[in-house]
Amino acid sequence: MRLLVLGDGGFLGYHVVAEALQMGHEVSTFNREGGAPLDGVEALQGDRQDDLTALRGRSWDGVLDTFSDPDAVGETARLLSGSVGAYGYVSGISIYHPDGPSVVDEDASLRRPEDDTGDDPLQERSIAKIRCEEATQMYFSGPVVTTRVGIMVGPRDPTDRFSWWPVRLARALAEGGEVLAPGDPQRPVQFSDARDVAAWMVGMLAAGTPGTYNAVGPGRDDLVAEVLDACRLAAGEVDGGEPEPVGVTWAAEEFLREQLHEVQEEERPLWFPEDQIPFQKVDSSKALAAGLTFRPAYETARDTLSWVRSRPGGPELAAGFSADTERELLRRWRARRG
Ligand SMILES: NC(=O)c1ccc[n+]([C@@H]2O[C@H](COP(=O)([O-])OP(=O)(O)OC[C@H]3O[C@@H](n4cnc5c(N)ncnc54)[C@H](OP(=O)(O)O)[C@@H]3O)[C@@H](O)[C@H]2O)c1
Repeated sequence: MRLLVLGDGGFLGYHVVAEALQMGHEVSTFNREGGAPLDGVEALQGDRQDDLTALRGRSWDGVLDTFSDPDAVGETARLLSGSVGAYGYVSGISIYHPDGPSVVDEDASLRRPEDDTGDDPLQERSIAKIRCEEATQMYFSGPVVTTRVGIMVGPRDPTDRFSWWPVRLARALAEGGEVLAPGDPQRPVQFSDARDVAAWMVGMLAAGTPGTYNAVGPGRDDLVAEVLDACRLAAGEVDGGEPEPVGVTWAAEEFLREQLHEVQEEERPLWFPEDQIPFQKVDSSKALAAGLTFRPAYETARDTLSWVRSRPGGPELAAGFSADTERELLRRWRARRG
């Protein structure tokens, strides 16, 4: 397949390029820098907002689009209609209506622009994503594969929401001390290794079968305590030592919310205060039946830790706490419990 990836320099886009190359596809990319993320890629330069010249008169078998501006997505879909086989659009699960069912599948109701959502930061972004989904259906004449993703993690994740855990547990293995963990250890968590979503989307575009899919991992009930333990074992493997047990203190969600009310969601290590999750679970069985698979958390943790340590920007994390903050939170939690 000849695949056009709009963007690519980000997180998911990069993995789409890497997975497509690995599968033997030909890849072109399009971004403002005009740089290729990997060798063997045709790099096209332009701007989604006002310069699509490099895409004119060209043809591909598939295109992958992660953009969130409905006008720009509509314009690209219109331009590529007839010259590209299948359009892959990356949307997100935040488009589902917060008052919908507790388990959302692809038929669950969506947010509406007229909803009064107060200062919900997801409302505006989600309405834009819905408009983008509509634009691809309206302007692209061929098959459209729409993938609604959730929290994506793994190497190149700019948020470090997951990366915090293998890094923190590696430090605990090396230095000892207690690790602060959020809420109920038996709570299932949903997250996807972006490489798994990327590989599956490339396969779906190659097949050219239209459809809308939730693609939220891990496709099994991973409990947060199990994920943290997978991170501990992975850290042990990366650092070559025996992964000794680590002391983990689980502090109540309510306590953490109260203590960290000024910390943005993006800066908190992988957990979601209950009042921010409008639904209990995302049902991705349709995508799983269409071949989506997720690697074990252990593998994601191992690769993420190695990537954090070798990344160009350095190992400093965008999410998590300083050692002092964590110690103080542990002290307050113990005092609270008496
Ligand atoms: N990460 C998550 O947990 C999560 C959760 C839910 C949904 N999502 C969705 O998943 C997708 C993530 O994709 P990603 O990480 O690859 O995206 P990204 O980081 O947002 O992609 C940025 C890419 O787009 C290019 N770009 C930006 N503005 C452009 C313009 N005007 N013209 C041309 N190219 C432009 C950038 O290159 P230049 O700067 O060089 O132009 C870069 O290559 C998004 O749709 C996001 O909404 C993510």
